[in-house]
Amino acid sequence: MSDPWNPDQYGKFEREREQPFYDLLAMVRPAANMRVVDLGCGTGTLTRELHAQLQPRETIGIDRSSRMLDKAGEAELSPGLRFQIGDIESFPDGTSGYDLIFSNAALHWVEDHEALFARLAEALAPQGQLAVQMPAMHDEASHLVAAEILEAAPYRSASGGWQKAQPVLSPSAYARLMFRLGFGDPVVRLIVYPHVLAGPDEVVEWVKGTLLAEYSRHLPPDVFERFLAEYRGRLLERIGTERPFLFPFKRILLWGQRSA
Ligand SMILES: C[S@@+](CC[C@H](N)C(=O)[O-])C[C@H]1O[C@@H](n2cnc3c(N)ncnc32)[C@H](O)[C@@H]1O
Repeated sequence: MSDPWNPDQYGKFEREREQPFYDLLAMVRPAANMRVVDLGCGTGTLTRELHAQLQPRETIGIDRSSRMLDKAGEAELSPGLRFQIGDIESFPDGTSGYDLIFSNAALHWVEDHEALFARLAEALAPQGQLAVQMPAMHDEASHLVAAEILEAAPYRSASGGWQKAQPVLSPSAYARLMFRLGFGDPVVRLIVYPHVLAGPDEVVEWVKGTLLAEYSRHLPPDVFERFLAEYRGRLLERIGTERPFLFPFKRILLWGQRSA
């Protein structure tokens, strides 16, 4: 299957996408000599920032997209920082003893969060921290319209019946899950980031860099172009024409520390 992630498209809304990263980083308790992994590190820009801020002994950025990782490897690496290709589904792959498992805007692509979080908790050292940020936009027009169009001809058969999984749980379900997994005092926040865009058409550009990248993996290129045109038409009908346009973006931020 081709690699749909495009660092340039993703980077179009860099400033808006960075704020949640800093909010998540602020939830982490710095400690000396940490061993850190950043799951779904993308272009690595924010992994570098994480490494610079926490000054850990080691930071590994993992991503399955070679296009994103190529970008990550372009600049010189600070001591202790490295990037590696891999699936979050296969993490921790025999490794353990992490002091911080960090993931910004990636775990919503991975199914079965009960099992995933159990694996992450096990990969932590005593007093290890888990810090995760994920969009929670599955019940908003930008996501519902894409799912609706995919249900109909010719997209359903062209995608082989694929449907985007919706693994993101409710905030309270994460609090319960983390508590069960040994995070004694989990912090769970639902934040609405009020992104002001020039117009509603910019929502399409935004979604092209993330959600629709995944749709493009499952449709032949010519069919995806048709899908995109239909998506644009139907979404703009649904969300209106106001300029500037407020795109309220919901995100869940999670933090927890395992007991000693
Ligand atoms: C929205 S980007 C976020 C990148 C980075 N964390 C940031 O905040 O800029 C999501 C990244 O997750 C990666 N990704 C999605 N599903 C993945 C999986 N199952 N295993 C590894 N990487 C994955 C994508 O390749 C993409 O680079």
